[in-house]
This record gives sequence, C-alpha cells and structure tokens, in this order.
Amino acid sequence: AYFDQAISLGDVSFYIAAIIALSTALRGISGLLTEMNTNARLSDDYFDYLDDQSLFTLQGDRKAIPQEETLEIEFRNVTFTYPRSEQVILDGISFKINKGEKISIVGLNGAGKTTFVKLLCRLYRPKSGEILVNGRSIYEYDYESYLRQISAVFQDFKLFSYSLKENILNEDGDEEEAYKVACKVGLKEKIDSLPEGINSLYSKIFDEKGIELSGGEAQKVAIARALHKNASLVILDEPTSALDPIAEAEIYMHFNELVEEKTAIYISHRMSSSVFCDRIIVIDSGKISAIAPHAELMKDTEGLYYKLFMTQAQNYQE
Ligand SMILES: Nc1ncnc2c1ncn2[C@@H]1O[C@H](COP(=O)(O)OP(=O)(O)O)[C@@H](O)[C@H]1O
Ligand SMILES: [Mg+2]
Repeated sequence: AYFDQAISLGDVSFYIAAIIALSTALRGISGLLTEMNTNARLSDDYFDYLDDQSLFTLQGDRKAIPQEETLEIEFRNVTFTYPRSEQVILDGISFKINKGEKISIVGLNGAGKTTFVKLLCRLYRPKSGEILVNGRSIYEYDYESYLRQISAVFQDFKLFSYSLKENILNEDGDEEEAYKVACKVGLKEKIDSLPEGINSLYSKIFDEKGIELSGGEAQKVAIARALHKNASLVILDEPTSALDPIAEAEIYMHFNELVEEKTAIYISHRMSSSVFCDRIIVIDSGKISAIAPHAELMKDTEGLYYKLFMTQAQNYQE
C-alpha cells in the first residue's frame, strides 16, 4: 500500500527544493511573457511608423524649410485615430498658432495633447485634414530639415550615458556654452557641486564614477538640450512633472525669456504655467473647447479651464 513506501527526510527536502525551483521558473516565464507582450505592442507602434513611408518622403517639389524662419502652425479640420484603433482621438480640430506665439495646451489626461505633438512631429499622419507650417503642408518639407526646426521634450525623455556637456550639446563642444544653458534652467548649483562640473559623466552604467541625477535634475538637462538645439519651434510636453511647482514656474518663466521670438508650445498638467502664455488651447474629448488668453478663459466660470485652474489653485492654498 501507499504508506509502505517510506519517504526519507532527504527525499522530502529534495522534492520541496524541486517544487520551489519549478515555481520560480514558471514565475520567470510568465514575467517574460508579459514583457514580450508589452514589447510587441511597442514594436507595433514602431513598425507602423517605419511602414508609413509617406511620413518621410517628400511630396511635391518643396525643398528644405528655411532654417532661421519662425514658424506659424495651422491645423485644418484634423481628425486622427491611432492605427488598429477605432477611438477618435482628435476630432476635426482647427486652429492657428501665429509666429512667435507662446501657446499652452491643457486638457484632462488622455485628451490628446501628446497626440497633437506627435502629429506635428510627423510621427503619424492625420486620417483627414491638413497640418500646415508657414502655409504649406508639413509633408511637403524635407523630413530632416523639418525636424531640425522642432525641438521637443517629451515626458519620457532619455539622457545618454555621456557627460552632461555632451547631453546638452548633443555633441562634443564648447564647455562654456553648455554651462551657460545649464545655468539658465537652474542647474548651476548642482553642476558647481560636482568635482568635474559640466564634464561629469551621467549614470553609472559604464563608469562607477558616473553621477546620478534626481528626476527633476534630469529633466532640467533635457530642457537645456532642447534650448540649445535652437530650433524655431520649441515644444515642452509635460517634461517638468518631476519638478515641484516653484521650480517648474521658474523654468517656464526663464523659458519665455530664452525662446525669445520663437514659437513655443507648452503642455503641463500644472495650470500655473499657462498664465505665462499668450493663448491657451483647451482640448476636451478630442475637440477644442476654447482657445483664448488666460484672463479671458477665467471669465467663463462654467468652462473646463476655469474648473481645472480653480481645483489646482485650491490645492496650492492648502
Ligand atoms: N500608440 C497608441 N495607440 C493607441 N492609442 C493611443 C496611443 N497613444 C495614445 N493613445 C490613446 O490616445 C488618447 C490620447 O492620448 P494622449 O495624446 O497621450 O493624451 P494626453 O497627452 O492628453 O494625456 C488616449 O486615450 C490614449 O490611450
Ligand atoms: Mg501627454
């Protein structure tokens, strides 16, 4: 019978160890499957991008966009849905941003703010409607020269494992120049505190002596890089989320000074930053619900902008 077959203590611990090893392995596999799934979805986006040759190729006989020109942007009845998705993200959007204007885009999470920036950066094409820059469809411009005119910092920006200087200049270059931009975004104290200053290597991945940065400091480096690129259109898409409200306000104030005559688009979940802007575009469920300066939007006490602003103002007063 069953009980006749005695199991030794050694056998028991052997089987237990085997079961533990098996369950660890299974957990590892399920973790990898999840990761594969996530990556597959990311690579879908990437291949969609590569597949759509019309994003890169020149349509019409237009040449490079003049490099020093300030940009005027117009969306004409732009509708957009992501590939393999039914959801209408932007629904017949029309507006015009004038040369040199400072524009803030506000709206709830998922309203389509980042999607708007992606379209403008030619990462996707609208389903219908037109996007014009200086009066021409953006697809008529040479791809590289067009992108050189846009300097965008996204929420999920990355720094490279190079020196701070190289991260800011995007190449090896003048130390003084990198330091100057770094000071403008509020990194002076941090850099002065580092033994190697602006030449410090970022991250410990390749070098133990590399420095680490807080989320807020890393964001400042990314913003310094965007500023240094010296493009005609500067876009900040919530890059300042790891900064405290005061540091963010400081950056936005400097930014207006720094971008000077350039056209600039700011996206922030903190409403305080839109006070500095000429006009604010309020996006609500894929449509533009208002586009006006701060003072004017605040008059509509039933509007989304007023509600968002007052909710946050309350948070700060507490
Ligand atoms: N690559 C994608 N594929 C499918 N849907 C997406 C993709 N990226 C964003 N979305 C969806 O588009 C909507 C708008 O997103 P987004 O533009 O990032 O909003 P916001 O920046 O205003 O928070 C959201 O519902 C989001 O889930
Ligand atoms: Mg976003």
